[in-house]
Amino acid sequence: MAVLELTNITKKFGDFTAVKNMNLTVADGEMVALLGGSGCGKTTTLRMIAGFTEPYAGEVKIDGRVMNKIPPYKRNVSIFFQNYALFPHMTVFENVAFGLKLQKLPKDEIRSRVEKILTMVKLTGLDKRYPRELSGGQQQRVALARALVTRPSILLLDEPLSNLDAKLRVEMQVEIKRIQKETGLTTIIVTHDQEEAVSLADRVIVMNEGEILQVGGPKEVFDYPATPFIADFMGFSTFLHGTVEEKGADGGRIVCSGVSLAVEPAELKTLEKGDACIAAIRAENMEVAEGFGQNVVGGHIRSLTYKGQRTRLEVEGCFAEDIYPAIHDYEKTGEDGQILIRLPKEKIRVYKA
Ligand SMILES: Nc1ncnc2c1ncn2[C@@H]1O[C@H](COP(=O)(O)OP(=O)(O)OP(=O)(O)O)[C@@H](O)[C@H]1O
Ligand SMILES: [Mg+2]
Repeated sequence: MAVLELTNITKKFGDFTAVKNMNLTVADGEMVALLGGSGCGKTTTLRMIAGFTEPYAGEVKIDGRVMNKIPPYKRNVSIFFQNYALFPHMTVFENVAFGLKLQKLPKDEIRSRVEKILTMVKLTGLDKRYPRELSGGQQQRVALARALVTRPSILLLDEPLSNLDAKLRVEMQVEIKRIQKETGLTTIIVTHDQEEAVSLADRVIVMNEGEILQVGGPKEVFDYPATPFIADFMGFSTFLHGTVEEKGADGGRIVCSGVSLAVEPAELKTLEKGDACIAAIRAENMEVAEGFGQNVVGGHIRSLTYKGQRTRLEVEGCFAEDIYPAIHDYEKTGEDGQILIRLPKEKIRVYKA
């Protein structure tokens, strides 16, 4: 059953439309990620769901009821704010217990639930501290605990992990996912980090300028972005302009700056021979080749950036686009920085130009 239904919701600030005709249905127990660049309307969408701002048009339904005029505290929605506004005069314990006290739960239950959740977010022993006595990342986890502890119908998380170091961030991702699965909480998480979105969510919603561009499973959105724009946002590094050279049931070819590349036949579904196209690939999907072969192109290394596990190269190749970044784990370069790079056929996406 749908726990949340947004129908054609629009939000305007003066002449500016922050969210345009958005439609979204979230099923019971589902976790969806709203992914998009700064200012695309993610927080505004969450605020409309939580009831802190009213849509200009459209309907917000929770558990089948229209909520447009219902105040936040009557919505059974819990929100983690991007700026996590903790109550400064309350201890960690009191901050987390706040929602449970409003629910008038017995003291013992409040204590045990708060303690349990503080352990989950790795804040055991800090319950008597005040927010000013905590680091930014610790404050963020108090806010996360406060949002999780009340077991709402819908949990809204606005960039809940933005302030954490890389290691803690991954740990908290695992923890959020675990809590969400265990409790079956319907959750919407906002992030501008593609990897976070695809690792946490059952479904990813890509937004831009107040509109939904693509909705899909994590693998679909990560590996099969619907347009070059989304591909760029999802981290595809290299875009080559070309034309369709050959289209057959068991193979297809495109030509980019005179170089013929084999592509999966499915990539050419909406294209015909001779059509202009754009091929896209991720840097991390390109490989260094030992010799010429299918989809191997020569190039000259322009720059080399050590990235820890990998090295990122900028290669000036035979394509008109001039530079295409490739990441590989190969330190030594050939004579005079010459290199052969393979663009694996199955990793190339092809779009109508
Ligand atoms: N109260 C407001 N008055 C006027 N404009 C606003 C208001 N709130 C948001 N906006 C504008 O609406 C747009 C969407 O804002 P929103 O906060 O939803 O973006 P976001 O996707 O959450 O971005 P970020 O990733 O930076 O948090 C922005 O251009 C913002 O400047
Ligand atoms: Mg925001």
